[in-house]
Amino acid sequence: MAVLFDSVQKTLTIQTRQSTYQMGIGPHNSLLHYYYGPKIEGDSMAYRLRYADRGFAGNPYEAGKDRTFSFDYLPQEYPVFGVGDFRTTCLTVADAQGGRACDLRYGSHKIYEGKPALRGLPSVNGDGAQTLEVCLQDTAGSLSVTLFYSALEEYDAITRWAVIRNTSKEPLFLEEALSCCLDVPCDQMDWVTFYGRHAMERQLDRAPLRHGNQGIESVRGASSHQQNPFVILCDSDAGERTGCCFGMSFVYSGNFIANAQVGQFGHTRLTMGIHPKGFSWKLEPGESFTAPEVILCHSEEGLGGLTRRLHRLLRERVCRGEWSAKQRPVLINSWEAAYFDFDCEKLLDIARAAAPLGVDLLVMDDGWFGNRNSDCSGLGDWTVNEGKLGCTLQELSRRVKALGLGLGIWFEPEMVSEDSELYRSHPDWCLRNPGRATTRSRYQLVLDMSRSDVREYLFSTISGVLQSADITYVKWDMNRHLTNVWSAVLPADRQGEVYHRYMLGVYHLLERLTAAFPHVLFEGCAGGGGRFDAGMLYYTPQIWCSDNTDAIDRISIQYGTSFGYPLSAVGAHASACPNHQTGRTVPLETRGVVAMAGTFGYELDLTRLPEEERNCVKRQIAFYKQHYQLINRGDYYRLTNAVKNRKYAAWMTVSPSKNEALFTIVLLESVTPPEFVRLDGLDPEKRYQINGGKEAFGGAALMKAGLAIPLFTGPNQCWQAVLTQV
Ligand code: DGJ
Repeated sequence: MAVLFDSVQKTLTIQTRQSTYQMGIGPHNSLLHYYYGPKIEGDSMAYRLRYADRGFAGNPYEAGKDRTFSFDYLPQEYPVFGVGDFRTTCLTVADAQGGRACDLRYGSHKIYEGKPALRGLPSVNGDGAQTLEVCLQDTAGSLSVTLFYSALEEYDAITRWAVIRNTSKEPLFLEEALSCCLDVPCDQMDWVTFYGRHAMERQLDRAPLRHGNQGIESVRGASSHQQNPFVILCDSDAGERTGCCFGMSFVYSGNFIANAQVGQFGHTRLTMGIHPKGFSWKLEPGESFTAPEVILCHSEEGLGGLTRRLHRLLRERVCRGEWSAKQRPVLINSWEAAYFDFDCEKLLDIARAAAPLGVDLLVMDDGWFGNRNSDCSGLGDWTVNEGKLGCTLQELSRRVKALGLGLGIWFEPEMVSEDSELYRSHPDWCLRNPGRATTRSRYQLVLDMSRSDVREYLFSTISGVLQSADITYVKWDMNRHLTNVWSAVLPADRQGEVYHRYMLGVYHLLERLTAAFPHVLFEGCAGGGGRFDAGMLYYTPQIWCSDNTDAIDRISIQYGTSFGYPLSAVGAHASACPNHQTGRTVPLETRGVVAMAGTFGYELDLTRLPEEERNCVKRQIAFYKQHYQLINRGDYYRLTNAVKNRKYAAWMTVSPSKNEALFTIVLLESVTPPEFVRLDGLDPEKRYQINGGKEAFGGAALMKAGLAIPLFTGPNQCWQAVLTQV
């Protein structure tokens, strides 16, 4: 049993393989958090809570003269604003009289097999899970909050979300409706987040907790390049192999907040959910609101242990559809090869050059539709520009297929150019405030995805294109953030709903399209990795990781990304040199091995490659395909810290049986490699051959004393070793 109720101790305990989460029904029917950490069986952890008379703490009225119970310092499952918890909260509600107080107490609970779906939202597949529902009731009868906890035992994960229901006779307005709170009775931990910018996403940031709030957020209408909705709280001495770590990953792609607050008594409160800024949600009597799902994961085996649990969970339980497990095609993308300047013959030339090298798919990126010869026009007009292409899409796909490749295509469904037929016919379809000049970004405006007519238009035009030819892949891009967020179809008191309704609209369209075209592989993208989150992975099992294709920059981008997301999710391509974003020249071998730590492809004009480089590409693709399972389904180990070690970067993947491993090292600032690197994840009892050599080395020796690295010199050189059990 993953979830247990002890009616004597009044505890609700969730057990996973190696962790325990416990809450209890405390004084005055409060729902208090007792414990989250390494597995403990049979005990109540209520003894960890200290009841004391604290200065300036509020006490519930019914406590009478007892001043030792206060919501201000006791650890809670779902703190609310207005009745004495002065810390960060999950819920703020305005009632019809304008009051902002609600007081939630335990009402009932249910434990059952499986996991309910979250209506309209991406969610973790709960096959084999057990779910605990705890229903909290407002003492004045205004609302109820049902907290959901689904235990995925084998992943050491618990997923959490909340449903808030108006049980009063008047409308309520949610001003804050977060998904999850974790109160940790400790302030000596590190807070790990992933910051960045366009073309430099998910850089690791690790710092000791300090008093007050330390938070990350996005109010950009997308999870963003700037902060990622995935955070870690870990022991201050936690490393890759040891230490307690808690990870929180938001299964959502829009505005978010994740905050760690260290309070007056040395406790830390971690909260995550939809950002309250720009948010309000009107609940009519009887209506409910679902706060999206958060994945909570725990590891006592350091950051590496947390990573591997999350990789497996996201690969197996978030990514769906036939492409979640199927071998992904090695692709050639037209963007950096041709930008907007291509026609059918140019694309066919690339396909002709690609086919003998082992490439599986040609992706026709931006520029194939409407009047789209630059980024100033055409978005929204999803009809093939046959004049520019010089043929129909069907003919192109037929000819590409005859060369042995599939054809993929790019869309940016959520956007519209002012210079487009769509905008001229429906100027009201975009987000904009009445009577106010709007904000442009990349010359484009944002469609109001909350509108069903907008979504209907997009569904019919996009599916029309996909039906018109043999298309096997779609790249779904999004190249600006949301401003002037106002919808022409909602009343004034519902405008605070638009950011979230926009996201629900995007999910709705993605759901429809992925269901209608189950054989098509959808890749997410938002100007690179600007919407790289567990929410998008539900629809698109791979996401273009960054517009920065420079292999050396990619090492730190992919390093940060690896903490929360599996390699099978990371779109990575080898591109031309000097690199278009940084001007750096890196050996093609190195560009290849870095891009291989993801869903592999190329982003360059293959027709211009000299013979020697073409042979190198051919070898790389053959190698990648040979080791596909090991790379994409293996366990991932970071061997160096990309923030601290500027000399070289090393990582490896190990097959689940530990019979095989792939080691990669890339020189960064150093021009000669270290003499040895300590490996990880091998079986200490097994012996391994390196690159088919005669000698075999013990797993224990390779992990404790290290793998000898051959001598090679030169800037940004690399070396790979395949380890095979003998
Ligand atoms: C941004 C993407 O990240 C690029 O790969 C490319 O598709 C461009 N958009 C096209 O406009």
